[in-house]
Amino acid sequence: MQNFQGKVIWITGASSGIGAELAKQCAEAGAVIVLSGRNQINLEQVRQKLPHPESHLIVPLDLAHSNNFKELAASVVGQVKRIDILINNGGISQRGTAFETDEIVDRRIMEVNYFGNIALTKAVLPYMRKQGAGHIVVLSSIAGKFGFFLRSAYSASKHALHGFYESLMLEEEGNCARIMLQAVMKGKKEVLIGNKEIKAVTLKRFLPGLFWKIIRKQSAT
Ligand SMILES: NC(=O)c1ccc[n+]([C@@H]2O[C@H](COP(=O)([O-])OP(=O)(O)OC[C@H]3O[C@@H](n4cnc5c(N)ncnc54)[C@H](OP(=O)(O)O)[C@@H]3O)[C@@H](O)[C@H]2O)c1
Repeated sequence: MQNFQGKVIWITGASSGIGAELAKQCAEAGAVIVLSGRNQINLEQVRQKLPHPESHLIVPLDLAHSNNFKELAASVVGQVKRIDILINNGGISQRGTAFETDEIVDRRIMEVNYFGNIALTKAVLPYMRKQGAGHIVVLSSIAGKFGFFLRSAYSASKHALHGFYESLMLEEEGNCARIMLQAVMKGKKEVLIGNKEIKAVTLKRFLPGLFWKIIRKQSAT
């Protein structure tokens, strides 16, 4: 964690959950945090709990409205000089069958989880190229590895992120970008975080017949 000392880390979805915890741990490791999300009251509450609250920025943004992301990136660099790590954590989920999920919901999930996510990356990338270094971290899900009950749009949005970021990684390896927190420092291309469900990814890859037999027996949650 000493590698995070002095690093500028921009975290979306920093107003709650995993993003807020990442902000806490990165700030405790000495990083300057740029906290983003829609809920400014929650963002401020998270910031006030960080060590040296005044050294961290709040940059409100809505992942469904990416038209100002270039200006936001310029503003961040103007204030804290660089962006070392972008953690694309903000996102929304779903509980509903594909049959009953309205297309508006499908589009909303793609807008927030995919288009907003990649738009921020595209806004930050020129600065990372200029710096000659930078890391982009993307929160996927086990549902980004295979589809699951009640998660059609969520799963699709996470699958889409894999396609985008694997391509980006190949394109940018020579310039800067690489992909997740401790794995960033270890140079890992992808890390799976979770419990026994992680084994399903290996199972699907090597024994797809058995995988689909087992997954059908899982209960929807
Ligand atoms: N929790 C899990 O078990 C789990 C498992 C696999 C993957 N993940 C992934 O991990 C990430 C964080 O999950 P979480 O459980 O911490 O979720 P969470 O507690 O619901 O937090 C989601 C964050 O995303 C932000 N967000 C939602 N819509 C947004 C929008 N339109 N614009 C900007 N920010 C938006 C929210 O901030 P505002 O409301 O302030 O905008 C919030 O801070 C997500 O990408 C999720 O898919 C989570």
